[in-house]
Amino acid sequence: MENKIANTLFIPFAARVFAADYFPEYFNDPVALQLKNKIPPKFLKISSQYEMIASAARYYISDKIIREFIDKNGKCNIINLGAGLETVAFRIHNPNAVFYQIDLPEVIQLREEILPQNNHEIFIADSILTTKWYDKIDKNKPTLFVANGVLMYFHKNEIFNLIGNLKQYFPKSQLVFDATTRFGIQCANFYVSRFGCEMAKMYFYIQNLDEFIQKSQTQLLSSQTFFTDARKMLGHKMNLITKFNMWLVDTFHLSNIIHLSLNGAL
Ligand SMILES: C[S@@+](CC[C@H](N)C(=O)[O-])C[C@H]1O[C@@H](n2cnc3c(N)ncnc32)[C@H](O)[C@@H]1O
Repeated sequence: MENKIANTLFIPFAARVFAADYFPEYFNDPVALQLKNKIPPKFLKISSQYEMIASAARYYISDKIIREFIDKNGKCNIINLGAGLETVAFRIHNPNAVFYQIDLPEVIQLREEILPQNNHEIFIADSILTTKWYDKIDKNKPTLFVANGVLMYFHKNEIFNLIGNLKQYFPKSQLVFDATTRFGIQCANFYVSRFGCEMAKMYFYIQNLDEFIQKSQTQLLSSQTFFTDARKMLGHKMNLITKFNMWLVDTFHLSNIIHLSLNGAL
């Protein structure tokens, strides 16, 4: 694909397929599993057990946040920023929620070719860094933006602009995204670079969460470490290196799912 970030989309997709295959008690995604044969083989071979679980943990936690948001708010929008090949609208089938899957035109074209689309899901082919697509969405509904594996590919000023726009146009909104530290982003860049030089580099990390909250003028709802539940549920299935890495990342808060209210809690 032309866009280097778009080239990364099979990494988390493969992780979801792997997790759904080997750890369905932790992460269940029958639709992704059916599409296993669509994954280019290099994305299935390189990752370690830890790396696959680390990727799947994001969806385990953000799915919980999405479910709670829908239960609390009823009719609402779930807007997946940089959706890639996410099948979340199948994992969470709730008629109260409309899922918007936004990604670059070349990715939406790929989605249309290889993924099914369900009847409460809308695809939008546009850049999340513009505001043109906002007109396609009912902004008066409670709205949860989800950005898994996406924001780290942008620069800080792009993230603050994006959050500023979402705050301005969507009065009743929240944002959930994954973030790591400076050290974490170095590890993540090493991991992604192993898939080839056509992969994009990552820039954005959060070293000081309080400072980020203050600068973005948002409100922190929660910041969750990745593996709290995975370590309880899957500990017996993990090899020693995976167990050690999960302990390390959680203990030193190297990767977190951040949940923000953009204009005061809903
Ligand atoms: C690592 S993939 C993550 C995909 C998906 N969120 C997931 O978790 O499987 C990053 C995604 O961000 C998308 N992306 C990059 N820049 C974008 C932009 N300006 N607007 C919309 N999507 C973008 C890429 O096309 C790609 O699908």
